[in-house]
Formats: sequence, C-alpha cells, structure tokens
Amino acid sequence: MKKIAILASGSGSNAENIANYFKGSDYAQVSFIIANNPQAYVLERAKKLGIEAAVVSKAEFMEAEGVIAMLRERDIDFVVLAGFLLLVPQKLIAAYPGRIVNIHPALLPKHGGKGMYGDRVHKAVVESGDTESGITIHIIDEHYDKGTTCFQAKCPVLSTDTPDDVAAKVHALEYEHFPRVIDEILHNLD
Ligand code: GAR
Repeated sequence: MKKIAILASGSGSNAENIANYFKGSDYAQVSFIIANNPQAYVLERAKKLGIEAAVVSKAEFMEAEGVIAMLRERDIDFVVLAGFLLLVPQKLIAAYPGRIVNIHPALLPKHGGKGMYGDRVHKAVVESGDTESGITIHIIDEHYDKGTTCFQAKCPVLSTDTPDDVAAKVHALEYEHFPRVIDEILHNLD
C-alpha cells in the first residue's frame, strides 16, 4: 500500500476529494495531512475523514527535519501539495525526490510564483484579459510553481467572467483530474 501525505494551508476541498478517491483502494491511501495553520478548515475535514493530521509552524516547516521525521515515521511514499502556500525547502525535496506534486490553479508558466495562490490567481487571469485558464499539476523543485509539468487542463474564460466564475471552472477541473493524475504518477514511480 502506497501512503500519501497531503500538505494544505486552507479549506482542503482538494485534500478531501483526493482522500475520497483513494478510499477503499488497496493500492494507495491518504494517511496523513499536514497544515501550516491551526485554523485551516482542512483539519476539520481530516477529522471527518478519520485521517491523522498535524499542524506545523512555518519555522518548523522551513527547518524541514521535523517534517521529514514525521513523514518517515508514517512510511509516507508520496507528498501532495493541495493548496499549500509555503515554499518547500530543499531538504524536504531531497528526502522525497520526484515524489512531491503540486497543483496550481492556472496554466503555468502564466500566473505563477510567490504570492500567486487561490483567488489572486483568478483575479490576475481576468485582469489580463486571458481567454483561457486551467490547472497545472507538476513535480516541484525549489522554486515556486516550477519543476516538471505532468498534466494541464484548460477551461475557457469569457469576457463576462468574474474571478469567482473562473475559480469555479478551475475547481471543477481540479476535482476531475488531480486524484487521477496522482494515481497515474504513483503507478509510474516503480
Ligand atoms: C486550489 O485551487 C489550488 O489549486 C490552489 O489553492 C486552492 C486550494 O483549494 N493552490 C495554489 O494557488 C498554489 N499556488 P482547497 O484548499 O479547497 O483545495
């Protein structure tokens, strides 16, 4: 059984969707959730799902050793960033080479980088007059929203769309594709 840890900073709707996708699978499961904010709603979702969760401070996360120990103690094979807003330190990337995946709610390399998350991304898409947006799923490196792209999906952006309209379309793509792409990456790991 492959064990997945999810790192999230906020609501955690993707975390819940991924956990439900793997529920009952004898191949992989979400067995641990880490939040960097004690108020993050993802912690409520973890409780409801019966998945162990932990909160780490930004300082602890950036220091990395403690988080690596937590992941290793739980035999975690693969790490998913689902709405996680901190930059992943090099030590953690080195501990899980090619095994940390992120989702970004736009078509990278557009609208990525430090400070570009959630609604800020959708606002930037609308303000740029883009006619399409979408999702990018990528194996991370030590830079924000860089690394190896595994998958992109697009949705149209109408001239009348608000950032909330774009967010709704992008979330639909995330829920449809992210768990399936994680499943595929896991199958290709070994
Ligand atoms: C998702 O749309 C995800 O793509 C985005 O945050 C949202 C989290 O929603 N991530 C980023 O912007 C990372 N730069 P959720 O907490 O409901 O899953």
